[in-house]
Amino acid sequence: MHGLWAQIEEATQSIRNHWKGTPKVGLILGTGLGGLAEQIEQEATIPYSEIPHFPVSTVQSHAGRLVCGTLRGTPIVAMEGRFHYYEGYSLQQVTFPVRVMKNLGAKDLLVTNAAGGINPQLDLADIVVIEDHINLMPDNPLRGVNDDRLGPRWPDLCEPYTQSLIQTARKSALELGIHVHKGVFVAVSGPNLETRAEYRMLKQMGADVVGMSTVPEVLVAVHAGMRVLGFSVVTDLCLPDHLEPVDIPKILANAATGGEKLAKLIPRVIEQLG
Ligand code: HPA
Repeated sequence: MHGLWAQIEEATQSIRNHWKGTPKVGLILGTGLGGLAEQIEQEATIPYSEIPHFPVSTVQSHAGRLVCGTLRGTPIVAMEGRFHYYEGYSLQQVTFPVRVMKNLGAKDLLVTNAAGGINPQLDLADIVVIEDHINLMPDNPLRGVNDDRLGPRWPDLCEPYTQSLIQTARKSALELGIHVHKGVFVAVSGPNLETRAEYRMLKQMGADVVGMSTVPEVLVAVHAGMRVLGFSVVTDLCLPDHLEPVDIPKILANAATGGEKLAKLIPRVIEQLG
């Protein structure tokens, strides 16, 4: 994208006009998972429509605003609602806010999503700490001329999800009595859910959870040298031989139940990021 750096600078400046803080953490709240934002001591809440070059969210369950403040004393910037490829945005647009978070000073990206459970051991509203991913989206946010100010041409992905943060998350979950799984997230473009044959394929590939987000943002964060921690909330069970028609209100209800666990876990993790 021509002039991407200038656009990032412009968006960063406009946020700084509302908020003087320097975030340590960038947090992306996925579908139905916005409740965590209430725990942030909010110092500025900026609708995306007021930030230059931010796309505007079209998904109803997403509030579409940037919340700036502190969470348990840690300066944080949180996206209440994210952008999806299936909404028609380019992946450069989908990931633009992550680049702005990094430019504001964020060192770590915490990302959450609602996902389908492929691993039969998963239950509704379970939490999965993402340990790795498979990218099945038909595009890549890093495609195109590389701006070396944003990161290297060929970022390596030997540890996209930071092991020490995964350990912190698991330890925090144990201390809080919250059961978490560890698993591989596969990203698809959506907006349709998958066929039985596709769920079978994804399982054979080694995926535990499937969703329509996260991987583009993680790729940009890794490119930018950020540490990354990701959580999926299981909102539906993708069992090819017992597949039920998708029920969006049920998916959102499961996201809300899982979101309550994340609303306990994530603040604890943030306290310990160091
Ligand atoms: N597939 C893809 N994305 C999803 C699903 C699913 O089953 N559930 C929630 N997001």
